[in-house]
Amino acid sequence: MTSKTIAQIRNDAAASLSPQRQQQWEQFLTPMPVAEQAVSLFTLTDEPVRILDLGSGSGILSAVTAKQSARGSSVVAIEQDADLARASASSLRQVCDNVEVINKSVFDVLLDARFDRVILNPPYKKISPTVIATSSGGVKVTNLYTAFLVMAIQALDEGGECVAIIPRSWMNGDYFKDFRKWMLNECCLDALAVYGSRQEHFKDMGILQEIMLVKVSKRPQTKKVIVYADATPAEPLEQQSHEPVALKALLMGSDRIVRIQQQDPRLSEFKTMADQGLWVSTGKLVWFRNRDVLSNVEEPDGHPLYWSDNQNGMVTVHPVKCDREQWVTDKADARNVVLPAGSYCLVNRFSSKEQRHRIYASYLHSNVEFVADNKLNYVHQGTSRQTVPLGDKEARGLTLWLSSSIVDEWYRQVSGSTQVNATDLRQMPCPSKTQLASLADSLPIDNTVSQSRIDETIGRLFSWVQAS
Ligand SMILES: C[S@@+](CC[C@H](N)C(=O)[O-])C[C@H]1O[C@@H](n2cnc3c(N)ncnc32)[C@H](O)[C@@H]1O
Repeated sequence: MTSKTIAQIRNDAAASLSPQRQQQWEQFLTPMPVAEQAVSLFTLTDEPVRILDLGSGSGILSAVTAKQSARGSSVVAIEQDADLARASASSLRQVCDNVEVINKSVFDVLLDARFDRVILNPPYKKISPTVIATSSGGVKVTNLYTAFLVMAIQALDEGGECVAIIPRSWMNGDYFKDFRKWMLNECCLDALAVYGSRQEHFKDMGILQEIMLVKVSKRPQTKKVIVYADATPAEPLEQQSHEPVALKALLMGSDRIVRIQQQDPRLSEFKTMADQGLWVSTGKLVWFRNRDVLSNVEEPDGHPLYWSDNQNGMVTVHPVKCDREQWVTDKADARNVVLPAGSYCLVNRFSSKEQRHRIYASYLHSNVEFVADNKLNYVHQGTSRQTVPLGDKEARGLTLWLSSSIVDEWYRQVSGSTQVNATDLRQMPCPSKTQLASLADSLPIDNTVSQSRIDETIGRLFSWVQAS
């Protein structure tokens, strides 16, 4: 039988999903071109292989895997939806004689580490943090897809390979730190393929997440990882541009953030922001829990309150005319939200797709204690427990640094999301405090300074950095 039949079973299954169950169990079925690309990442072998498919849906992924595998191969597919489990069985019987479809939740099936090929496009939902026990200790997961992936990797036999279709979110951020560390210790990262456009691949399923393919294998880590930085489902992966990248160049910092592109060599001289003694915290005032302290007027012993509305280009202005209160009353003193007077760099935690920059930084100097809204990050030189303002020149230099194009490009590579989180910022390459002060001496913090002047000045300082 041809793979068209498998595709047809998938399309029929997709068309007859119950909308309610589709949402509940995240039944977003992989289209044939993406399935073929995922399977093409497996190493071809003449030996029969034992294949496992977790959350198999219509069975498309394991069926395409079985189709390209040697005679005598076998498939175990686990799917909790009875209709889809039946669809899996009919797809798989077209291509394989030894098929077991288990109509259960993957979390209710005990799997031995005996599989040579594990393939999955799991549900992506957030879950409350759960620790999964593994042979190398517990691993904390916060999404169903990482929970599935931990199970998939544990089911691999020595030398076995796993390909997963998952979102990009695991590559950065605090929530996935534990998972990243576990996965990178447990197996070899072989290949990453990141789809360039959001809608293209799951068009008929309405998926808008940034999705990628990850291939890992149960063998010692090799030095290079094959990276497809801008994949498209339109043509076979092997015909698309890819390069072997040193794993070292993909991983960043102790949190093991994974980047898809190699770091711009101009940035490789710099330590991370955290290593330079700069700490990023999130504004402490959650307004809707503190409505009673907000004030439209300045009251004796009150404090200025900064929102993203107060960011105006590279400067921070206070007060501004907007529909948000510009002060808090002295009641705020008892709420652990007031920050010491001094110089800081504020970074908006949210950006929109339309904004030219993902990172929007502004310099703040306050002669009095103040409060920052929770939608702002602020950079200081203290710790997570204690806020210590920056030197004034450092705050200005850092604002210029964070407003540069090179930093914005770096951030886009690290994070697939429009949110700018403190954890990612802390891992950002950053000049030393002395260098930041020199940058502040070279340019004023002034909204008449153009982007090209910022970039040129930083470019000059880079060569100065390399020459020193
Ligand atoms: C994103 S869909 C992908 C289906 C299929 N792997 C594919 O690529 O087309 C995820 C599948 O996992 C199934 N599923 C969700 N939670 C599950 C669980 N706990 N155990 C087994 N299957 C599950 C859903 O019913 C759905 O078919």
